Amino acid sequence: MCGIVGFIGKKQAAPFLLEGLRRLEYRGYDSAGIATLDGGKITKVRAQGHLSFLTEKLKKNPLSGCVGIGHTRWATHGKPTEANAHPHSTDLVAVVHNGIIENYRELRALLENKGCIFTSDTDTEVIAHLISDNMRHGMTPQQATSAALKQLDGAFALGILFAGHDDLLIGARRGSPLALGHGADAMYLGSDALALAPQTNKITYLEDGDWAELYTDRIVIHDSSDVVVERKIHTSSLTNDVIGKGPYSHFMLKEIFEQPSVIKATLEPMITKDHALALPALPFNWKNVPRLTILACGTASYAGLVGKYWFEQLAQLPVEIDLASEFRYREPPMPQGGVAIIISQSGETADTLAALHYAKERGQKILSIVNVPQSSIARASDIVVPTLAGPEIGVASTKAFTAQLTVLLALALDAARTRGTQPDSRIQDILTALCDIPNKIGSVLRQENVFQELAQGFDTVSDVLYLGRGLLYPLAMEGALKLKEISYIHAEGYPAGEMKHGPIALIDEKLPVVFMAPSDVLFEKTLSNIQEVTARGGKVILLSDKKGVDAIGASVFRAVSLPSVDPIVSPLLYAVPVQLLAYHAAVVRGTNVDQPRNLAKSVTVE
Ligand code: F6R
Repeated sequence: MCGIVGFIGKKQAAPFLLEGLRRLEYRGYDSAGIATLDGGKITKVRAQGHLSFLTEKLKKNPLSGCVGIGHTRWATHGKPTEANAHPHSTDLVAVVHNGIIENYRELRALLENKGCIFTSDTDTEVIAHLISDNMRHGMTPQQATSAALKQLDGAFALGILFAGHDDLLIGARRGSPLALGHGADAMYLGSDALALAPQTNKITYLEDGDWAELYTDRIVIHDSSDVVVERKIHTSSLTNDVIGKGPYSHFMLKEIFEQPSVIKATLEPMITKDHALALPALPFNWKNVPRLTILACGTASYAGLVGKYWFEQLAQLPVEIDLASEFRYREPPMPQGGVAIIISQSGETADTLAALHYAKERGQKILSIVNVPQSSIARASDIVVPTLAGPEIGVASTKAFTAQLTVLLALALDAARTRGTQPDSRIQDILTALCDIPNKIGSVLRQENVFQELAQGFDTVSDVLYLGRGLLYPLAMEGALKLKEISYIHAEGYPAGEMKHGPIALIDEKLPVVFMAPSDVLFEKTLSNIQEVTARGGKVILLSDKKGVDAIGASVFRAVSLPSVDPIVSPLLYAVPVQLLAYHAAVVRGTNVDQPRNLAKSVTVE
């Protein structure tokens, strides 16, 4: 949530800051702002709304200066107004912040008693006043920052400018991520390496509690006790061009179409040339694992729920799954020798990270499935099995979801093989089906126009129900989440068998009901549920295979025939039609597909 950037060098800061913010806009887009030092004085421009409003303002009122900071906001404390937009400043200090300062009320009262005048409702403004207050008491910028950091409770990544110090930029982090970039004649900071990719691929990730002095030619890093420390410089593989939309009108559509290659790329390191399973060595033995716990949020949690079915069915391994935001607060006991699987695209989701720490403190081995290899979750794990989806920019997760499913199924197969719960031939068959999924998804993508046409009917609907059974139940929830988050149509995902226990009351002739029902062992049961809906005039949209469509397609409102697959891999295939349906419904309704209202890609607050 919120993206921050900083620059210190010999060139003008503003163009770099704007480009960095453009690449971080996925983290929030309620407002944006930049500040530079011009002749030692703090100057800033801020604008409510998307970055384009800031860009327009800067055209009329350009900022000069070779050191600067920038921010794109996802509002937490205070409405998304210009007054609440970062940077927040005094005459001495300007600050950009990602995170939440939990004790800001006490600090604000303390500072107001000393005569500080606050101009925003944000938690961040206390940081600018605290540092300024320290400087007024004779401290250097470095001493003033270090002292202020010790007074803050909560999470932060910060970029700080000091009036009269054109040669200094300070960055700090606790809880929220911060990357530092090393250039030839310039140093950078950013919420992630992606923001810095056009400028440098030499990246240092600050450890929790670190703060850093950035000068044009060097960076000095201190740990939380102010001791100067060395941190590794990584070479990032992100390039400047990976974040283009290519020929697609939205990142989301591009990312949906990338899924065949993303699944192949994710599978490749886990499969030998002869198509045998070859996972990295794990720091535990599946045979001795008494119970798995899967923890994640949102779409990643639906991938986890599919994973639960796979681990239980294939490897006979008991699995507990919970939403990360609920898990630790119910204080669950965890078994000795247990393993926790943590799933996250960004690797920075605050709830998921907190759940990871809860599990770790209770002796669980931590296996994480993340898309960002240097993320906080990756670094706190005993082992990472990565999704190789590449940067996902669209706020609605698509390719990361199917990549997470790919890793989960490979892990479940590995567990089944080690525990001897499936014959080798069955494991090999599933692996072959998994390797063939990119081709099958390719055929669904070639049917895009079918979903585009179906979505026209979502123009005026206000509710949609998604139903599925077994492995398709989590997909029903994922389909509903995709639709509501980008088209703002209210949608619910339900296990089809549960419908008669309540949701059936919603059915009328206006309600589209999307059934995901491949012709597997549960098909006959789902068929009864479909009949319950059609009998009440509901508009059934059936997603099935040829056999399913041949059987009942004629009796429903619309039926779409998808390729036939081994039922065990069906969640990977059925993810794609619900993504396309949600995407085209959002286009029809004219919403901002890649940046839906109120959302942000990386949720670094609890
Ligand atoms: C929905 C979506 C979110 C994320 C959730 C977790 O399309 O993207 O529900 O899945 O915020 O994010 P990560 O995976 O980054 O931990």
